[in-house]
Amino acid sequence: MFQVNENYLKLPGSYLFSTIGKKVNAYSAANPDKKIIRLGIGDVTQPLAPAIIEALHGAVEEMGRAESFHGYAPDLGYEFLRNAIAENDYKARGCDIAADEIFVSDGAKCDCSNIQEIFGLENKIAVCDPVYPVYVDSNVMAGRTGVYDPKAETWSDVIYMPCTADNRFTPELPKETPDLIYLCFPNNPTGATVTRAQLQEWVDYANKVGAVILYDAAYEAYISEEDVPHSIYECEGARTCAIEMRSFSKNAGFTGLRLGFTVIPKELKCGDTALHSLWARRHGTKYNGAPYIVQKAGEAVYSEAGRAQLKEQVAYYMNNASYIKDGLKAAGFTVSGGVNAPYIWLKTPDKMTSWEFFDYLLETVNVVGTPGSGFGPSGEGYFRLTAFGSYENTVEAVDRIKGLQL
Ligand SMILES: Cc1ncc(COP(=O)(O)O)c(C=O)c1O
Repeated sequence: MFQVNENYLKLPGSYLFSTIGKKVNAYSAANPDKKIIRLGIGDVTQPLAPAIIEALHGAVEEMGRAESFHGYAPDLGYEFLRNAIAENDYKARGCDIAADEIFVSDGAKCDCSNIQEIFGLENKIAVCDPVYPVYVDSNVMAGRTGVYDPKAETWSDVIYMPCTADNRFTPELPKETPDLIYLCFPNNPTGATVTRAQLQEWVDYANKVGAVILYDAAYEAYISEEDVPHSIYECEGARTCAIEMRSFSKNAGFTGLRLGFTVIPKELKCGDTALHSLWARRHGTKYNGAPYIVQKAGEAVYSEAGRAQLKEQVAYYMNNASYIKDGLKAAGFTVSGGVNAPYIWLKTPDKMTSWEFFDYLLETVNVVGTPGSGFGPSGEGYFRLTAFGSYENTVEAVDRIKGLQL
């Protein structure tokens, strides 16, 4: 008789956004006349930029002609894209990353969740709390997290690094030594960032204790402040301790197209084993590449026109972020984030729990956000709003919240 992977049975509840979806659908079905504004899930709303659409059309045409048809993509991704990434995302920022250290994929979520496969099960992971749930859940599925404590909402074999108002939502070096450290800056959900000097401390620490940092930089395009690093490879020594994951979802609106990449420097080794070789093997065995059409669209992200158009798109969302942040501050809320990230992290009023505030906002002003507790125990008492809505909806949502008598 077959058996299932019992680790899956240990996962508590359903994925956060399914629970939210169910609640919103139930409310909507019972109140069909209400206009619900969704500032919950981190999906973009603006259409793809013209330069990207043009590249897509061009690539579709190519696929329709025998002489320019493309089948399976090369294992690591097309060179034209990897060169553009190496040049623009790394060399231009003074980071020493070569094109053959870049693995193109269909997004950062898959890479963040799959990367743990190349590490032993006895490795201990450290995560920020609150955290993007994928890092923890993928390790649960692999059987690396021990026993779940439903009361504390924590796993026995995970090191949690609380990110609270006291440390300005940035983690401190853990007391217990981890093997794998997940960091995400600018952060989802808190919108917090670290300075280059703070990130350097993490790199020095990882090199000292022999840990690997899994650095999720999905929101780097939203950085507006000078001393905030766009890549972990801006830090000295990162080539021997860090893997970086990036996405085209939030900087270029590819959530529906799907494109991302992972960087593994060749010096990153466990004894004589290069992690680059392990990931290359995994990629070659389990993945057949992002579509040619999408990789051509990705190349257009780095074109002159693409860059200019996407700068405007990011500015559009960040204008929303400012509106939310300033509006809620003026209304007396305690808010952070929204400066180097499209997320605003607000303290729930009147000691409401995150889910109480979720229900309250949904039912009184028909605005959907994300309960902070869904990202971990330290998220309790907080709430995340995203800047990814349209400007009109953002303004209306904030004005509705401002009208609440709290
Ligand atoms: C921190 C973080 N990493 C990765 C992703 C997923 O990116 P992608 O769309 O490339 O899979 C998200 C999406 O919301 C995210 O918030």
